[in-house]
Amino acid sequence: MQTVNRLPQLREAVDRLRPKGPLALVPTMGALHEGHLALVREAKARSASVVVSIFVNPTQFGPNEDLATYPRQLAEDSHLLEAEGVDLLWAPPVEEVYPKGFATTISVRGISEGLCGASRPGHFDGVATVVCKLFNQVRPDLAVFGEKDWQQLAVIRRMARDLDLTQPHAEAIIGVPTVREADGLAQSSRNRYLSSEDRRRAAVLPQAMGEAVRQIEGGEPVSTALRMLKQALTNGGFASVDYAELADAESLAPLGQLGERPARLLVAAGIGRTRLIDNMPIGPRGA
Ligand code: PAJ
Repeated sequence: MQTVNRLPQLREAVDRLRPKGPLALVPTMGALHEGHLALVREAKARSASVVVSIFVNPTQFGPNEDLATYPRQLAEDSHLLEAEGVDLLWAPPVEEVYPKGFATTISVRGISEGLCGASRPGHFDGVATVVCKLFNQVRPDLAVFGEKDWQQLAVIRRMARDLDLTQPHAEAIIGVPTVREADGLAQSSRNRYLSSEDRRRAAVLPQAMGEAVRQIEGGEPVSTALRMLKQALTNGGFASVDYAELADAESLAPLGQLGERPARLLVAAGIGRTRLIDNMPIGPRGA
């Protein structure tokens, strides 16, 4: 595996890989776990070469968020990627991505405003902008993202459609189901912030969400199921519930009841000083 930190090196390395066949990109912020590695494996299965980017993107962190303390472990990550047979690691420094004078932002209206967008203003602008840049830098034939960040995936697909991106096309943006721990908690780089007590309690999140999915699919009114879900989280040791919503799986418009289209249950909740997010498909035609 080759590691590059500068754009001219990246272009050279990508030009060498491209003739071998389809090129896949897996964007990450590092601190890799099994969830990231599942994306890498999916990328490998679908392409001839795999590029992984590791870049802790400052523009997607709010002023009171964890940019400074976000885990950075490039050497360890690099070993994991090497073992997966990744061809190229793109790990640029901040000034290579945001040089002096940088002035452009991509803002995907509507879909990025509710849910996490409501409590993290500017977050999805930062994500859309950096992902668009990564797409233009690598020009992959396909890109792989996790369903763990469902709103992020929806925002990126919307951006790709709206801007007529071709490398990759919107249809070549692949979503991979969430990888979970044995107790159901979604794997996340932020789980390591949890105390052992909070880590044990955090399993109530996927459990209570699974219960709400069963209730709604069984015909319980959505408002009742969501109220019971919030109650279960609070009783289980969560300090706050940022949101718990049923939404259209693609547009993320809030739903008061299940319809014909695929729906998604999405939750963000705080435990200790950590904010956890999760989402699950719902309904007979769940996404
Ligand atoms: P990061 O949080 O490092 O996640 C990188 C990719 O891994 C994302 O597509 C995310 O959805 C996926 N992922 C994380 N945990 C997962 C899990 N448990 N199961 C499956 N996939 C999982 O998301 C970002 O970085 C950034 O916002 C980024 C897209 C790189 C832009 O900066």
